[in-house]
Amino acid sequence: MKEVKIESILQVFDSYNALPKDVQSLMSHAVKVREKAYAPYSKFKVGAAILLDNDEVITGSNQENASYPSGLCAERTAIYYAGANFPDAKILKIALTASSENKVTDKPIPPCGACRQAIAEYEIKQDHHIEIYFMGATGKVAKSNSLVNLLPFLFDSSVL
Ligand code: THU
Repeated sequence: MKEVKIESILQVFDSYNALPKDVQSLMSHAVKVREKAYAPYSKFKVGAAILLDNDEVITGSNQENASYPSGLCAERTAIYYAGANFPDAKILKIALTASSENKVTDKPIPPCGACRQAIAEYEIKQDHHIEIYFMGATGKVAKSNSLVNLLPFLFDSSVL
C-alpha cells in the first residue's frame, strides 16, 4: 500500500477591488447577471461570466424549477451556452458570485461538484487551463488557475 497525496493550490484576493482590472470587469458581468437569477425556491442567486479567447463574454444565472432537479446552476447555464454557440472558442476565465436572501455570503463560494465536472470537460477538450475566480456577494475572492485544483482526481473520457 502507498499513500497518494493530491495538492490543490488557490490564490486569495482580499476583495473585488484587489482583482486585476480585466477580472474585475468579468466579475462585474457575473454580479449583474446574478441579479437576474430565477431562484424562487432557494433564494440563492448565482452569476457566472465566461471570457472566451474571441473576447466574447458569456453570462448565465441559476434557473430553478418547481421540480427541483430540473433546474440548472449558473455555471452550466453559461458554459453550455458558450459550447453551443462558440464551439471552437477557448474558455480563458470564469468569474462566479453568489448571494443569498437567507444569509450573508461574504466568503468565496466555489462551484458545485456537477459544475466542476462540466467545466473539466471543456478544459480537457480545449487543452488549455481555465482560470476560475469565485466569491460570495462581498469579501475575499478565490482563484484557481485550473479546474484541476477544484476537482483533483477527476473522471474523464480516458477511462471509457
Ligand atoms: N447553484 C449554482 O448556480 N451554482 C453552484 O455551483 C451551486 C448551486 C444554484 C443551484 C440552485 O439554484 C441554488 O444555487 C441553490 O443550490
